[in-house]
Amino acid sequence: MGLYTSVMEEIAFYTGLSPAAFFTVLAMMVVVYRTVSAMFVSPEDYNKPPVVSARTHPQFEDPEPPRQPVQLGQVTDRELLAYDGSDPNKPLLMAIRGQIFDVSTGRNFYGPGGPYAMFAGKECSRALALLSFKPEEINGDLEGLGESEFTILEDWEFKFIEKYPKVGLLIPEERAPKKEEQVQDSLENSNEYKDETK
Ligand code: HEM
Repeated sequence: MGLYTSVMEEIAFYTGLSPAAFFTVLAMMVVVYRTVSAMFVSPEDYNKPPVVSARTHPQFEDPEPPRQPVQLGQVTDRELLAYDGSDPNKPLLMAIRGQIFDVSTGRNFYGPGGPYAMFAGKECSRALALLSFKPEEINGDLEGLGESEFTILEDWEFKFIEKYPKVGLLIPEERAPKKEEQVQDSLENSNEYKDETK
């Protein structure tokens, strides 16, 4: 008890504060120190890799292997629509100037709910050239575009060529082989094969 009283008297003598005020100031200094030091990282810790566990980050548990882009060949506008992201098992495709790009890695942009989802499964040259989101401009019609709009479109085209794999070409509906023609073609091809093997 004597020690306690003398410590309190020393505090009052040296700091001029009552013991209650002294401990309040001390506690505030500790809080400020801890808050400020938490804002900085020590040089040793800075270079350490972040500690992540599969429990706190379930996405690290089972990373999906990157999907290899599938070459589609020639498809029509109508067929391209099937690749608008509504079927998660299909790649996400988008066309610029008739070239079809697999934009699956940009699912955040073009997937359902993404800011540019309206472009998925479509030929978007006109919309990109005009920087427009209007549904009626999302097509491949370049009629009436000015020089600056063609430059904008070219910039988009370069961006896409650099970023996404090209997986096919868009062809007009009338140039698409009819279903019967395709069957006929494959029959002829198999006959040719038989002829060759004779
Ligand atoms: C309010 C104006 C806009 C803002 C603030 C904006 C912002 C952005 C940002 C931050 C990105 C991501 C860039 C990146 O990480 O590579 C982006 C990407 C994109 N923007 Fe915009 N944008 C705007 C208008 C437009 C317009 C008008 C269009 C076309 C009609 C457009 C089409 C795109 C496309 C297609 C991408 C994705 C490119 C890719 O796949 O890498 N944006 N935008």
